Amino acid sequence: MSKHTVKTIQAMKDNKEIITMLTAYDFPTAKKVNDAGIDMILVGDSCAMVVHGHPNTLTATMDMMVLHCAAVARACDRTMVVADMPFGSFQYSVEDTMKNAARFVTEAAVDAVKFEATPNHIAKTKAVVEMGIACVGHVGLHPQAIGALGGLKAQGRDMTSARKVVSEALALQEAGCFAIIFEAVPTKLSDYVTRKLSIPTISIGGGPKCSGQLLVTPDVLGLYDKFTPSFAKQYVNIGQIMIDTFRLYKKEVKEGVFPGKENSYGMSDEILESIIKEFGEV
Ligand code: KIV
Repeated sequence: MSKHTVKTIQAMKDNKEIITMLTAYDFPTAKKVNDAGIDMILVGDSCAMVVHGHPNTLTATMDMMVLHCAAVARACDRTMVVADMPFGSFQYSVEDTMKNAARFVTEAAVDAVKFEATPNHIAKTKAVVEMGIACVGHVGLHPQAIGALGGLKAQGRDMTSARKVVSEALALQEAGCFAIIFEAVPTKLSDYVTRKLSIPTISIGGGPKCSGQLLVTPDVLGLYDKFTPSFAKQYVNIGQIMIDTFRLYKKEVKEGVFPGKENSYGMSDEILESIIKEFGEV
């Protein structure tokens, strides 16, 4: 199958085929996600937390994100790759946003960019779309606003917040986004907006009625346990498999089981004898 485009992703919504999306930050994981037939990858700024060990996403930088995006994009011949614009890369000006979005395309060869755009960033979204770069919106919980929000809290649960989610989603569609991520919002609200919008909605804690579903891959694999949102689902505990494997390796090394003959290089006795003759006995 050829690579997903904005057209094939839109066709999935139109044909009521649920879109699947996962995060990835490195080549081997992205290759597995691609080979599993997942439709989209988000190289999220969550990488600051789940890969780099920071307490939140605010320390992700352009250089960090471009490096991760380039590794992911090299692995994907089918899955669409979306770069997450980090904090500080789109807040200052339209020009700044355009330059940073262009870096993701020219230096990392991603297929699209996403930013946590509030109404203040609609002009920037439009400018990026006008450059010809495919753009994903993000409404509901904006982890980059953790300071102002006072934590990672669900959004859209009261009238003011629900109105904000709906109006932002409509404005982002109008600005040219081809899909919108709904993070930590009630199912009734994302269901309403999904039916109201013509473009696909992708849920991460937005319930089952969106056009697609997204999870942070280290949550799925049991590789990150510092913070797990209630909407995440762990499918396997690879973290424990890794610990068990590293313990087995340690045991085998200590007991002289590893490396075995099959893991070692051979050499003729004549060469060794010549070496001893030249350098002396030990
Ligand atoms: O960085 C990320 O992984 C994200 C998702 C949580 C939407 O932005």
